[in-house]
Amino acid sequence: MTSLSSRRNFLDLVDYDAADLQKILAIGGNVKSGETDLGHALAGKTVLMMFEKPSTRTRVSLETAINQMGGTAIVLSPNDSQLGRGETVADTARVLSRYVDAIALRTHDHRKLTEMAKYATVPVINLLSDWSHPCQLMADLMTMQERFGDLSKLKVAWSGDGNNVLHSWIHAAERFGFELCIACPEERMPAADALQWARDHDAKVTVSHDPEAAVTGANVVVTDVWVSMGDEKAAPSLHNMLAPFRVDEELMAHAEPDAIFMHCLPAKRGQEVTDGVLDGPQSAAWDEAENRLHATKGILAWCLGRSG
Ligand code: CP
Ligand code: NVA
Repeated sequence: MTSLSSRRNFLDLVDYDAADLQKILAIGGNVKSGETDLGHALAGKTVLMMFEKPSTRTRVSLETAINQMGGTAIVLSPNDSQLGRGETVADTARVLSRYVDAIALRTHDHRKLTEMAKYATVPVINLLSDWSHPCQLMADLMTMQERFGDLSKLKVAWSGDGNNVLHSWIHAAERFGFELCIACPEERMPAADALQWARDHDAKVTVSHDPEAAVTGANVVVTDVWVSMGDEKAAPSLHNMLAPFRVDEELMAHAEPDAIFMHCLPAKRGQEVTDGVLDGPQSAAWDEAENRLHATKGILAWCLGRSG
């Protein structure tokens, strides 16, 4: 088991400085290019994945990464464990730490992640919560670096819901020094805490309700679903509110000519993004999805202490 003193969680980007985040990206990039072989980095190690919400990319890229690094993956849904029957997160964390070498959790409630990290003695990894999605951002940052190199010169525009993925974009903007122009409806602003954090850290983050202004001159245009997992009850009103923020060809035309479009996926085609944009020449969404695998290897190597 990893000792407590050397334990590295991956709960949010803000827990690391830019240099460490860059090291994690470099590990993933070097594995992708073939420069580094992490084929045995997790030999003898077991990583537990727990999902309270569905997942395609995170689940499959993480399990594949663990396998390709020589480790063993265990996957549990809430109904498979006693957590679903009310065993506390603290007790679960204490017990799981006696068996596995890392715990990765996708949850409706970010407090479960912090609670798990408090009581576990092995690394805890955030696979998406209602608050943030840091593993996704590592793949997004990798994708932007592949396309543009230095991130600090970029303008990124977000048009859509002020959600969990956007919170991680705000964290990334501050850590990597790029400009993030957010356009979202008044009723769907990012959390006040996230915006206050950005102000406190002098991040180049602005918020408006004007998608055209946000996208004008952008190098990267990003959006996400209008209805996140857990928001289903609010779906009809969200559709009305968010329709003006759809990323279509007309909105993309305001970005730089070589701008890329990014989306963490899954997409609701015709809602937050048109087929023309998602399937078009500016779409980086498929490279972004592939990079979940490579970036995850960097995160695993970092958290499990064999590299970095
Ligand atoms: N982007 C992302 O996390 O996708 P999944 O929900 O399919 O894991
Ligand atoms: N904001 C979305 C992201 C899915 C990967 C959600 O939480 O459902």
